[in-house]
Amino acid sequence: MRIFLLGADGQLGHELTGALGCFAEVVPATELDFDMTDPQALRTAVRAAAPDAIVNAAAFTDVDGAERNPRQAMLVNAEAVATLGELARDERLALVHYSTDFVFDGHKGAPYTEEDAPCPLNEYGRSKLAGEAALLQQDAPAVVIRTAWLYSLRKRSFVSSIRALCRERAQVRVVADQIGSPTFCRDLAQATAMLLYGVRDAPHEAIAAARGVYHLAGAGSCSRYELACAVAELDPRREEHAVRSIVPVPSTEYPSPARRPAHAPLDCGKIRARFGIALPPWRESLARALAG
Ligand SMILES: NC(=O)c1ccc[n+]([C@@H]2O[C@H](COP(=O)([O-])OP(=O)(O)OC[C@H]3O[C@@H](n4cnc5c(N)ncnc54)[C@H](OP(=O)(O)O)[C@@H]3O)[C@@H](O)[C@H]2O)c1
Repeated sequence: MRIFLLGADGQLGHELTGALGCFAEVVPATELDFDMTDPQALRTAVRAAAPDAIVNAAAFTDVDGAERNPRQAMLVNAEAVATLGELARDERLALVHYSTDFVFDGHKGAPYTEEDAPCPLNEYGRSKLAGEAALLQQDAPAVVIRTAWLYSLRKRSFVSSIRALCRERAQVRVVADQIGSPTFCRDLAQATAMLLYGVRDAPHEAIAAARGVYHLAGAGSCSRYELACAVAELDPRREEHAVRSIVPVPSTEYPSPARRPAHAPLDCGKIRARFGIALPPWRESLARALAG
C-alpha cells in the first residue's frame, strides 16, 4: 500500500511517518515540497505519487493567527481539503483527514458525539468545519477524524510549554475553565495506522463505505490546569523543576484573539464500534509521552 502523507513535518505528521511506515510505503510531503493551497500543485503531486490513500495531517493550526488571517485558514483547512476530496473520488483513493473539537461551542455540558450540531466560536473552527462540509457534500471516500488538544514533546505544544515553564519558574498560572480531551500524537498516529492497515486490501472501497466523521481523542477529560498539574507530577525529570506552585486561573486572565470552547470533551464511541479503535486514558498516554 502506498500512502501520500501531507503535513509530514507537523506534530501528528511526524508520528504518522513512523506509524504508517510499519506496513505501507509512505510518500511524505511538507510545505517545502509544495504549497497545498495551489490546487494544481496539489493535484500534480498526488497524481505523481500514485498512492492508494492520502492522509492529510497538514492544516493551518494557529488558532489565534486564524483570527488575523481567516482567508489563509480557509484556503488550507477547507479549499485544499475540497481538492483532496475530489482527487480521492476521481482517482479512487482513500482519504483520512483530521478535524477538531473546536467545531463545537462547548455549551453542551457533556461529551460531544458526531450527532451534535457544530457551532464554532472562532475562525479556525469555522475553517475546519468548512473542510469537513466539503468532504461530506462531495460524498468523498473520506474518514474525518475529529481530535482534540493534540500534543507531542518534539514540537511546541501545551504539554511541552508547561514542562519548560516548570523548569524555569517558581509559579505557573494555568487556565482552569477550559476542559477537553488531551491526545498524544503518537497514539493518534498508531490508531490511524491500525485503521488503514485494517482496510489495506481495498482502501478506497472500505473507506468509502465507512465515510463520515468520527471522534478520536485521549480517553477521559480534564482542565488545562489539571493537565499542567499532571505534567509536573508525571515528568520523570522532576528534580529539574523550579516550580513550587501551579495556580488555577480563569481564562479572562489570558485574553486571546480567538474564543475557545469551555467544555468540549469528545465521545469516541462511534469509531470504537466501527473500527474497534480507542485511545488510552489521557494520563497513561501523558506518562508515556513524558518518559520519552
Ligand atoms: N494541535 C491541536 O491541538 C489540534 C487539536 C485538534 C485537531 N487538530 C488537527 O490535527 C491535525 C494535525 O495537527 P498538528 O497539531 O499536527 O498540526 P501542525 O503541527 O501545525 O502541523 C501542520 C502541518 O501543516 C503544514 N502546512 C500548513 N500550511 C500548509 C500549506 N499551505 N501547504 C503545505 N503544508 C502546510 C505545516 O507546515 P509548516 O509548519 O511549514 O507551516 C505543518 O507541518 C490538523 O488537522 C489539526 O487541525 C490539532
